[in-house]
Amino acid sequence: MLATSHLSAGYGHDTVLHDINITVAPGEIVALIGANGAGKSTLVKTIAGLLPARAGEVTLGGERIDALTPRERVLRGVCLVPEGRQTFGGLTIEANLRLGAYANKSLDEAAVRALMDEACKPFPILLPRRHEPCGNLSGGQQQMLAIARGLMSRPRALLLDEPSLGLAPALVSEIFRLIAELRERGFAILLSEQNARQSLAISDRAYVIENGRITASGISRDILASADIAEKYLGVGHRVGDAGGARQIAMTARLREIMAAR
Ligand SMILES: Nc1ncnc2c1ncn2[C@@H]1O[C@H](COP(=O)(O)OP(=O)(O)OP(=O)(O)O)[C@@H](O)[C@H]1O
Ligand SMILES: [Mg+2]
Repeated sequence: MLATSHLSAGYGHDTVLHDINITVAPGEIVALIGANGAGKSTLVKTIAGLLPARAGEVTLGGERIDALTPRERVLRGVCLVPEGRQTFGGLTIEANLRLGAYANKSLDEAAVRALMDEACKPFPILLPRRHEPCGNLSGGQQQMLAIARGLMSRPRALLLDEPSLGLAPALVSEIFRLIAELRERGFAILLSEQNARQSLAISDRAYVIENGRITASGISRDILASADIAEKYLGVGHRVGDAGGARQIAMTARLREIMAAR
């Protein structure tokens, strides 16, 4: 179980996250839904240790990890697949994958190869093309590579930061389908997304984050069960992120009200 307790974090003089309490169990997909600038990336970066916690705790399997370095957290099983994928276009697909195993210096070549086979199983397009530059891949395929690279670290908790960002609609559906399949492997998955509708559709539970605070939480199925909600407020067929900023924030606020009323 991945959990945060009264977690706060920020940049410089600005405290961005306030009193964040979330849990993600193994085999569970938990959506973190919020508009642009709500604090989603700040939260996943704080869990991964790229940003220090200013108060509160992060625990994995009941043990505190908030004082550990990012690498130590990777070795414990926390893996961040960052926003914007951060794959290296000039490197081959294989070289990108190998970077995912960098934290564990004790792996020999055979172990790395076995990991690569395992990590690419959900994404069969990757291995046959492993000698190609990663820049040859489409945006959706690069997102698959970014996730596979994350799996190379043998995570227990997967933090996926806006995996659908910038993808064409057909690929967005494909990425969400693949993420849903990852649940069967027992990872605790935290899915940070502006795309409320599709992340609710594949997640078990959801938190709404606004201005750095969790303002609502609930069972995803219950929230989606109302066709009315899906149509009016979650923009069926649209990415919430496609809406203008103000409209998007209003949609998130409406979603919070709906969840609060249930
Ligand atoms: N490196 C930084 N330095 C200072 N402020 C930052 C930094 N990164 C983010 N912020 C601020 O922190 C707040 C939360 O940003 P964050 O990137 O976590 O939002 P987000 O929910 O991930 O948004 P998006 O959907 O656009 O990715 C915003 O007000 C943002 O301006
Ligand atoms: Mg972000």
